[in-house]
Amino acid sequence: MQEVKAFPKGFMWGAATSAYQCEGAALEDGKKENQQDVINRQIHDEYGYADCSVATDHYHHYKEDVALMAEMGFTSYRFSINWSRVLPDGVGEPNPKGVEFYHNLIDELKAHGIEPIVTMWHYDLPMALVNKYDGWGSRQIVDDFEYYARFICKEYGSKVKYWLTINEQSIVVNYIDRKNLITKEDQFNPKFRYQANHYMNLAHAKAAIAVHELVPGGQCGAALDMAPYYPASSSPEDVLAAKNASNFKNYFYMDAYFKGTYTPSVMAYLKRQGLDFVIEDGDMDIMKKGAECFDFLGINYYQSACVKSPTPGLARRSKQNNKIGKGGHVTYEVQPDLFEGCKNEYLKDTDFSMPIDPMGLRYVLEDIYDRYHKPMMICENGFGAYDKLEEDGSIHDPYRIEYIRAHIKAMREAIENGVELIAYNPWSAFDLLSTSNGIAKRYGFVYVDRTDDDVKECKRYKKDSFYWYKNVIATNGKNLE
Ligand code: BG6
Repeated sequence: MQEVKAFPKGFMWGAATSAYQCEGAALEDGKKENQQDVINRQIHDEYGYADCSVATDHYHHYKEDVALMAEMGFTSYRFSINWSRVLPDGVGEPNPKGVEFYHNLIDELKAHGIEPIVTMWHYDLPMALVNKYDGWGSRQIVDDFEYYARFICKEYGSKVKYWLTINEQSIVVNYIDRKNLITKEDQFNPKFRYQANHYMNLAHAKAAIAVHELVPGGQCGAALDMAPYYPASSSPEDVLAAKNASNFKNYFYMDAYFKGTYTPSVMAYLKRQGLDFVIEDGDMDIMKKGAECFDFLGINYYQSACVKSPTPGLARRSKQNNKIGKGGHVTYEVQPDLFEGCKNEYLKDTDFSMPIDPMGLRYVLEDIYDRYHKPMMICENGFGAYDKLEEDGSIHDPYRIEYIRAHIKAMREAIENGVELIAYNPWSAFDLLSTSNGIAKRYGFVYVDRTDDDVKECKRYKKDSFYWYKNVIATNGKNLE
């Protein structure tokens, strides 16, 4: 029998989604376009992946989806608000029907005893702001984000305690051209992404202050994509590369949230590389105030990473995961004079070339807690795969169960070592669009019947993992059989 000690009393079990990946109704009931509507339409035209117009039709299925969450025993659900659904032009006139949708969703969750955990921004800036000033490229976004944050805190604050400002800021910075529609000129401006990162830090800080001001008992966090960086060998050069990667990819973002400061070695590197950015008078005070309102960190954990001393002369590049789900085909990240990614020979990869490493989750949880002493919640963790709907309506996904089981064990070990972990919200509550592989790559506990080419009726089916997770929740994480 696969048993661990039960989780602490009050630990929240649920799952996560994001608005543009599941809602659909992209232009319905007064919603205007956001950048993901546009980006995913381009991806559809280029690669044939499903776009956001229907996604997995959560907008019309939300009651059924919440009922399925309740059947699994969820006590939390992390979702995001689609900014251009509530404020179609980014700021100004609200859209009553869009505002009502999230009231209905939140009320439905609460009626089933499920705690809503709301992400303010999950990659979907209103196109109105992108067209006006290139999104995160302009300082104006800081004020507009604050306007939006204050609007939703006032609207939903009496019902929502947990707020996440920004999803995966480090990923947005790394893949700025894919997560933020920007002009060609900005794409080729090497300083753009770190200036945008600074604006995100200011926007985050102002939103965190708004949560504390406007939400009675409100708790504010942000969700970061988190991978531990292991050295490829014990050579001092590789160990230094791993330290560099941890600072550059992880602590640079966490120091900003937890402490309201910038990591000195990363700032020095950015300056050497000509990637430094403008900090105006008073900015660091705003970040410091924001840090005082930062209550918990959301962890999105899928994989660990391995790095070595960078090969001299290699140009800067981001990691490209494989798009075909057949193993291999991965291009590793390079940051000149800092680190170069490589395969970890000790770990098995998923078919989408993500190393499976439950111990890495324990590593990051303990490492972060020892450093910052603040609670954490898992906001994403999961196994993307090609699932098969059998003729009898079943879906057998033992690989997902195995993956999640191992990660729950790792969380348990971290808690034993003193980590304050308050929730587990794996990706995803039900199937939704992947950011990179359309609907073919699925993560949900509930199968949504549609393909990239045919939206069908988006009928819901329970996967084997649905029943397994229900039992995990019923035993507060004790029985992982
Ligand atoms: C996280 C994102 O990075 O990874 C999600 O917050 C995303 O939006 C998830 O869906 C899984 O990645 P992918 O590319 O397989 O969808």
